[in-house]
Amino acid sequence: MVNFDEIVDRRGISAQKWDDQGGEYIPMWVADMDFRIPGPITEALKARIDKGTFGFSYIDDEMYQVISRHYREQYHCEVERDWIVFVPSVMPGANLACRMTGGDIMLNTPMYPHIRRLPQEAHTGVREVPLKETNGFYEMDFEAMEEACDENVTVFVMSNPHNPVGRVFTREELEQLEEFCRRHHLLMVSDEIHCDLVFEGEHIPYFSLSEEAKQNSITLTSGSKTYNIPAIPYAIAIIPNPELRKRYQDICYGLFSPVSVLGVEALKAGYGRCEEWRRELIDYLRANRDYMEERIAAIDGLSVVHNQATYLAWIDCRKLGVESPQKFFLKEAGVNFNDGADFAEPEFVRINFGCPRSQLKEALDRVEAAVKKRKEER
Ligand SMILES: Cc1ncc(COP(=O)(O)O)c(C=O)c1O
Repeated sequence: MVNFDEIVDRRGISAQKWDDQGGEYIPMWVADMDFRIPGPITEALKARIDKGTFGFSYIDDEMYQVISRHYREQYHCEVERDWIVFVPSVMPGANLACRMTGGDIMLNTPMYPHIRRLPQEAHTGVREVPLKETNGFYEMDFEAMEEACDENVTVFVMSNPHNPVGRVFTREELEQLEEFCRRHHLLMVSDEIHCDLVFEGEHIPYFSLSEEAKQNSITLTSGSKTYNIPAIPYAIAIIPNPELRKRYQDICYGLFSPVSVLGVEALKAGYGRCEEWRRELIDYLRANRDYMEERIAAIDGLSVVHNQATYLAWIDCRKLGVESPQKFFLKEAGVNFNDGADFAEPEFVRINFGCPRSQLKEALDRVEAAVKKRKEER
């Protein structure tokens, strides 16, 4: 059994989450976890370093095999070798897809800030369409999307499972979205980086929905969230349409080496030898989620969106009555959450519950005490 309760000291190793913002606080923000990475990955990286020789790598059969086996076993679909393009990480992969397409981008809010910044980075216009929220349940608002769409929009960027609301979109929702994209001739850029951390429901890779979806999509993923290795550069773009793939490869050409020495090892060990670790992680995170949801529900003025996937959750602070909940919790509780303003919902914060239970408990104790104190003072 993996001991996810272990406190791993992550200070002093240039870890952004812990040391980048100065001051003493419990970091519950940026999306990496406070757990050790899986043993098979550590061993693979050490063994590779011990060879004492680096250099350019190529993408060998084993890499394709572990990816295709992962998709067959987890998502019951085939990924052909030719469909895969390696990129350094998911966001540059999405960025290049948007630059390649050129037109305006449609996305749903709240949304992961780096996706919200894609239009600015790709120099395109944007249609931000809010998800529809009913009693804390978020879903796509097809009527509003219809109204916002015009012929300048050429690409839809989706996060599924969704960061920050933690939704795993159902087949029916995805089919409706595919029909919407088809009617408006939109390329789907589907960011599925959180797909291997699902607690409820079933992740359906967008390209596997239909022939139409296959021909008009770029699906991006990597093991970086699942195995907690975001700094090791590798991600994959799955592009079944050969013409689209050629255009994408052309735009990538010369920008980076297709795959790094350590990325090769991390990918093979992650998809190939960490399944038991991943299952144990999901069990631990699910228990953290349940604990967190119960605690937040008991705090007057806060509520949390029920999370189906990812170790990120969306806390509704609208009843708290403070201008910036993120600043309030940082100052009054010493807990650093992500600011909802960056996701287009300033009265929310995003919590990262990918940490030992004791850390989560301490953060929630402090949040509860800060809210209580504020109520008493008013
Ligand atoms: C939805 C989503 N996409 C992409 C990323 C970052 O991906 P990468 O580090 O591979 O660029 C994150 C990280 O939090 C994320 O939540």
